[in-house]
Amino acid sequence: MPHQKIAIVGTQWGDEGKGKLSDWIAERADVVVRFQGGHNAGHTVVVGETTYKLNLLPSGVLRSDTLSVIGNGVVVDPLALAREIESVRAAGVEISPETLLVADNAPMLLPLHADLDGLREDGEASHIGTTRRGIGPAYEDKVARRAVRFGDLQAPDTLGERVERLLVHHNMLRRGSGRPELDGDALIAELRRMGEPILPFVGDAATRLYELVERGAIVVFEGAQGAMLDTDHGTYPYVTSSNTTAAQVGVGTGLGAHAVDHVLGVTKAYSTRVGAGPFPTELDGALADHLATRGHEVGTNTGRNRRVGWFDAVMVRQAVRFGGVDSLALTKIDVLDGLDELKICTGYRLDGEARATFPSGVAQQARVEPVYETMPGWSGTTAGVRARADLPSAAARYIERLEELVGCPVAVISTGPDRDDTIIVHDPLARALQFASETADDREE
Ligand code: IMP
Repeated sequence: MPHQKIAIVGTQWGDEGKGKLSDWIAERADVVVRFQGGHNAGHTVVVGETTYKLNLLPSGVLRSDTLSVIGNGVVVDPLALAREIESVRAAGVEISPETLLVADNAPMLLPLHADLDGLREDGEASHIGTTRRGIGPAYEDKVARRAVRFGDLQAPDTLGERVERLLVHHNMLRRGSGRPELDGDALIAELRRMGEPILPFVGDAATRLYELVERGAIVVFEGAQGAMLDTDHGTYPYVTSSNTTAAQVGVGTGLGAHAVDHVLGVTKAYSTRVGAGPFPTELDGALADHLATRGHEVGTNTGRNRRVGWFDAVMVRQAVRFGGVDSLALTKIDVLDGLDELKICTGYRLDGEARATFPSGVAQQARVEPVYETMPGWSGTTAGVRARADLPSAAARYIERLEELVGCPVAVISTGPDRDDTIIVHDPLARALQFASETADDREE
């Protein structure tokens, strides 16, 4: 089977550099698809002099010959999406219904969701350190069968019923928290107003994707957040409200269990996390400040400072296993340039006992102590290096050690923010490209 459907997912707590990788790989793709999350994601893509910050739009929108799809697994804030379309257009990028498709069965994320998210974040007992975008409450409404989906805007007869179902629940919560109740007719009018700029892009994404895949299209699935923020396998409850691994692609697009041929796991050469929750290798003091400054570790989306720490090989190995990762894209190795020595977490101690896996309970996760292996740093630079042979030898050894400990080969090394600051060790799309050249004529028909 050719590798023509590639998922790009995070293996840590998000912010691994998926935006750059997706854009880099999108150059060779026909379609780029988001399959989970919402505008909690912040993907930075640098093209020449321009830096784009994408939240909901797949990185493919920056390429005029690529179709971008927002799948049903994403919770979509129509106001945020409209704003993002406008800002990307203002930078000179064309977006039309030919280049952007939003699934008609994607749930709408509404201001009432962001309200509720903020209310919970302000309460001590329910604080998670979310992006306050309303992601959790929007997914709750989806699984509780009361979400309004984009397709509902196209069915005026049933929209009132959908809104009533939603408001029965939310007005109950609002009464309980002393907030004014929402009026159904006013919400319907607001939904129509918010939905209007998005409706031209709304359609049957699952069928379109199925047909494109059948015709041999090269498809990139762009993950958001990271494995350790996955609702089931992450540092629960300090997680996001969606499944963030490639296993979600089939569900979040409608392409089914065989949606993905190759999973590329994006991994930062050290660790970062935004928001609350366990972080065994977290650093503080001068070293933390150094890494945070060099790595520009400030949230793209919320402007919060990211917590930083050493590379945790145990956690990434686990993420590779439960995420079905085939190869790694290692990013930000240049941030480690100039350090005398580097530490890698190779195991933990929990209550005096050694263990080789990350526990699933949050209390134990918070108590594990990392066991480190120390490696020499390098005085040369990796920044902007474009061939593995040109890396300082200690940097090459560090990468080899990560591969051994994590149990997964590194296919791509990113040495800077620019599209071209990329070392391709093994192109995960190579087989797809070969296949594409054989079938290009068919696909153009
Ligand atoms: P939520 O997704 O807004 O509900 O936030 C839940 C947790 O996920 C918080 O710790 C957020 O900081 C984190 N989070 C959500 N989206 C991202 C992301 O794109 N990058 C990094 N962390 C994220």
